[in-house]
Amino acid sequence: MALIRLDKLIADSGRASRREAKDLVKAGRVRVDNIIAYSAEMKVDADSVVVYIDGESLDYRKNRYIMMNKPNGVLSATEDSQQKTVIDLLPENLRKQEFFPVGRLDKDTTGLLLLTNDGVFSHSIISPKRHIAKVYRAAVTGVLDASDIAAFEEGIVLSDGTKCMSAHLEIDRPSVGLATVYEGKYHQVKRMFASRGKHVTALHRLSIGGLSLDPNLKSGEFKELDEDEIKKIFE
Ligand code: URA
Repeated sequence: MALIRLDKLIADSGRASRREAKDLVKAGRVRVDNIIAYSAEMKVDADSVVVYIDGESLDYRKNRYIMMNKPNGVLSATEDSQQKTVIDLLPENLRKQEFFPVGRLDKDTTGLLLLTNDGVFSHSIISPKRHIAKVYRAAVTGVLDASDIAAFEEGIVLSDGTKCMSAHLEIDRPSVGLATVYEGKYHQVKRMFASRGKHVTALHRLSIGGLSLDPNLKSGEFKELDEDEIKKIFE
């Protein structure tokens, strides 16, 4: 049983702020199952009741998970005074739910980005101890060869002397590689290729753990993940 204040539950649903929820309750517009809510402070069991505003039921799952096909030119941040962020791409009802990106993709990196309002989940993915595989498709200058594969396997040493964990490189086309990395250092993939004398001209994330970017999502589009998809990440 998950008892929660009614105004908090309404705010978690993204339909209204806590302040607005109080006004809605006062105006008699909120129903808990069949009963008109009498107080915004009343405790309700989020697992068993249905809350309605103006007769429309609320979706108030507390923790939510979004897969986005991040477009080029957008920041992986929650807000920025100058530039567009991935949160700006969400509709207003979701923007109210305090989503944040799970880790970061560079502004010019595209592809699979997870967004959530669940801090524990986010930590479990980006924690350096977890070693969740992330696969990137990288277009590079120059031609990739077996020595690059071996260097990735061996563990690349970045220009500042940082040693990376062993990674996997598959050559897709002469200047396109599929890189699988198990950690998330700053600009890691670009810096790994740079240490091989190759400049990354385009970077796209294809998967995180066992979860691949949905090919139906066009650039900038997103979808909510269900439980099975979330589990796949950790497979
Ligand atoms: N590595 C990078 O260099 N950039 C990204 O956006 C992600 C991984």
